[in-house]
Amino acid sequence: MLCPQVTLLLAVCLTATIPPVAATGYTMVKTFAGSTFFNDWQFYNNYDNLTNGDAIFVSSSVAASSHLAYIDPSTNHAIIKVDNTSTVPYNQKRNTVRISTNDNFSVGSVWTVDMLHVPYGCSVWPAWWSQAPAWPTGGEIDTFEGVNMVTNNQMGLHTLAGCKQVSQVQSSTLINSTDCSYLTNSNEGCITTNPSTASYGAGFAQAGGGMFVKEFAETGISIWFFSRANIPSVLSSNSSTIDTSTLGTPVGNWPAAGCNIDTFFAPQNLILDITLCGDFAGPANIFAETCPGTCYNDYVVGNGSNYATAYFEIASVNVFSETGTNTIVAGNSASALGFSLSTLASWLGVIGCIWLFLA
Ligand SMILES: *[C@@H]1O[C@H](CO)[C@@H](O)[C@H](O)[C@H]1NC(C)=O
Ligand SMILES: *[C@@H]1O[C@H](CO)[C@@H](O)[C@H](O)[C@H]1NC(C)=O
Ligand SMILES: *[C@@H]1O[C@H](CO)[C@@H](O)[C@H](O)[C@H]1NC(C)=O
Ligand SMILES: *[C@@H]1O[C@H](CO)[C@@H](O)[C@H](O)[C@H]1NC(C)=O
Ligand SMILES: *[C@@H]1O[C@H](CO)[C@@H](O)[C@H](O)[C@H]1NC(C)=O
Ligand SMILES: *[C@@H]1O[C@H](CO)[C@@H](O)[C@H](O)[C@H]1NC(C)=O
Repeated sequence: MLCPQVTLLLAVCLTATIPPVAATGYTMVKTFAGSTFFNDWQFYNNYDNLTNGDAIFVSSSVAASSHLAYIDPSTNHAIIKVDNTSTVPYNQKRNTVRISTNDNFSVGSVWTVDMLHVPYGCSVWPAWWSQAPAWPTGGEIDTFEGVNMVTNNQMGLHTLAGCKQVSQVQSSTLINSTDCSYLTNSNEGCITTNPSTASYGAGFAQAGGGMFVKEFAETGISIWFFSRANIPSVLSSNSSTIDTSTLGTPVGNWPAAGCNIDTFFAPQNLILDITLCGDFAGPANIFAETCPGTCYNDYVVGNGSNYATAYFEIASVNVFSETGTNTIVAGNSASALGFSLSTLASWLGVIGCIWLFLA
């Protein structure tokens, strides 16, 4: 029998050097809420040269001075909106906002957003999404998106060729497309529509909003939507740890079986934006599905009275990492730890064991 001291030392060495078993839980690593909500994002500060929208994504200073991105003092919620007070002459674009996180978040992350209101109205195209800097390499994940007066949120992925949605375990039966390649159907993506009309537009606001949860895991990508009344307590209580296996069946699911997550996805920048018309909201056939008139001429041009509902009201955005890791890939602000505590513990363990064997 080994003496107790040696047994203890062996146990310490083993627990320190063997990586922890695959975690089922996630721990909060970053939060955007209240007065510091806007602290770690970049404002695009250019007209929409990404999706051909009739929109100018303003700088942070213009967003603040013209009240397009601010914290509502009565609720402490972040407001991100389209300019609805300026008169836009023909041939000019309307001011709005696009922000992206300074940090990127790698596979092994969950991000949640708690919103009270999402932008909607004719010509309005909002999204809460993410992409890798070298898109389409590294992929794109759309958690929340809609155009004009549609009533349901749509979700999806956009990737290089070879990623498909197969064997999904999801509650939505509204599957628009399953090939995620940006080369298929003019970059349609692999899209699933949320069957709940509380997931977008006036229906979302009337229900008091809700939460979208996105899991970016090696085993696949999943999205849950909870209308205000159905938000599980682990989320409403702002718990610092969550276990996605307790959240029930996701509304959208893209398993690794059809899409190797490590191959098709790189660390993601989280993005919130609202554009006007452009590639998705603007085409005459899509526009006519839910709105009368012409997208640019009848809505963007003029006094902006159409845009009173074109705003996000956000209580919080939280990012979680698989417990024992830190999936923050520090961006321009270099605000994050570049290594995980468990990695540090492992190295200390290795050094301790080498020292023991030498001694
Ligand atoms: C959009 O405009 C900015 C500023 O001029 C430029 O840096 C960027 O490369 C442009 N992007 C595209 C896709 O054209
Ligand atoms: C992180 O995102 C920034 C853009 O915000 C990009 O310039 C950088 O290359 C990204 N880094 C990694 C490792 O993905
Ligand atoms: C996706 O499918 C749903 C259900 O069939 C349909 O209502 C919706 O219009 C489709 N969305 C798009 C963008 O084609
Ligand atoms: C949630 O908790 C984190 C710390 O765990 C805190 O920084 C954040 O402000 C909280 N968010 C809200 C909306 O209370
Ligand atoms: C704004 O323009 C709309 C449409 O042209 C018009 O119906 C509305 O009366 C205008 N509002 C104001 C305050 O001028
Ligand atoms: C602009 O939109 C806000 C909501 O974001 C609304 O309260 C306000 O009445 C609107 N202003 C005009 C002039 O329509």
